[in-house]
Amino acid sequence: MKQDHGLLRIENLSVTFPSAGLVLSEIEGLRTGPARDGKVTILDEVSFAVGRNEITGLVGESGSGKTLTSLTVMGFLPPSAQVTGGHVWFQGMDLLRLGEGEMQRIRGQQIAMIFQSTRSALNPLMRVGDQVARAYQIQRGMSPAEAYQQAVEILGRMDIPQAERRARAYPHQLSGGMCQRVLIAMMIACEPALLIADEPTTGLDVTIQAQIFELIKDVQKATEASILLITHDLGVIAETCRYVVVMYAGQVMETAPVESLFARPLHPYTQRLLQSVLRVDRAVEIPQVAMIPSDEVTYGVVGCRFAPRCSLVLPRCWEERPLIREWGPEHWAACHRLDVANCE
Ligand SMILES: Nc1ncnc2c1ncn2[C@@H]1O[C@H](COP(=O)(O)OP(=O)(O)O)[C@@H](O)[C@H]1O
Ligand SMILES: [Mg+2]
Repeated sequence: MKQDHGLLRIENLSVTFPSAGLVLSEIEGLRTGPARDGKVTILDEVSFAVGRNEITGLVGESGSGKTLTSLTVMGFLPPSAQVTGGHVWFQGMDLLRLGEGEMQRIRGQQIAMIFQSTRSALNPLMRVGDQVARAYQIQRGMSPAEAYQQAVEILGRMDIPQAERRARAYPHQLSGGMCQRVLIAMMIACEPALLIADEPTTGLDVTIQAQIFELIKDVQKATEASILLITHDLGVIAETCRYVVVMYAGQVMETAPVESLFARPLHPYTQRLLQSVLRVDRAVEIPQVAMIPSDEVTYGVVGCRFAPRCSLVLPRCWEERPLIREWGPEHWAACHRLDVANCE
């Protein structure tokens, strides 16, 4: 899992929410764990690292805990959520143990996050050029004139045509794709060591999406930042990332270099995800149906949370959480089937 050289290293992170009153152990026919103290463990001992100077992908369908993981890193968890275990190591510090003041400094200067909904991240009452310039003033201590000049320059570098004119526009006067470029420009102005991009192209046209991912790749090369790119789309991962983390229902199922994951997916869940990508490549319409069927059932499984949907499930998968183990260079997976296959 490259745990020794990651810039960001999440270790056994568990996060709970209050359960909606359901006693999980009472669900009929399933060996589920109790909702302890009325809480449901959503993130279940999540561990992975984000390498230096590269793009790491975090993939999993809707509801797998990708956003929750990044919100924990940023210290933005909703009040009802509780971290019940683990560490978030960043440059020698455990971010979970820092006070709000220290976190604010880190958020501004070292870790930046692009959220799913861009437009709401921009100030609707302020011209976009001024917003980017403000980032330069605050983060880099530039004078207003110098900051504005830098802002126009970086908007140009984000492939925004007529950057000087567009800098004077308000967010509502720009397209979604343009707003996303402005936001990326703002993030880069802060020169963060780590950039977390959570589904940064949601709601944008497919062509624009591809352009934004190209831009993110270019920006990574130019700034040597580490990027955690969150998406539910394995196709995007294949095009953009070197390393990938696959999550399902709050558990990390597999982590691997991208080529290795596509050539030899080890976890049945990854195999299922890849099959749907291949079907898309063959231009067959497949409905975008989330595979996480019922949060209550899935999150209540003591062992592997993919067990209720896995065609290869073993009795022990329900009872015992498979350890994540390294099966090839940097290629890790958590599946009891692999242990069995290896002993045969
Ligand atoms: N505010 C909340 N209250 C209760 N449960 C939540 C809350 N936010 C997220 N969850 C739970 O956490 C799960 C993971 O959510 P999220 O991290 O947003 O998934 P993803 O980003 O992978 O789509 C959801 O399926 C939901 O059950
Ligand atoms: Mg999300």
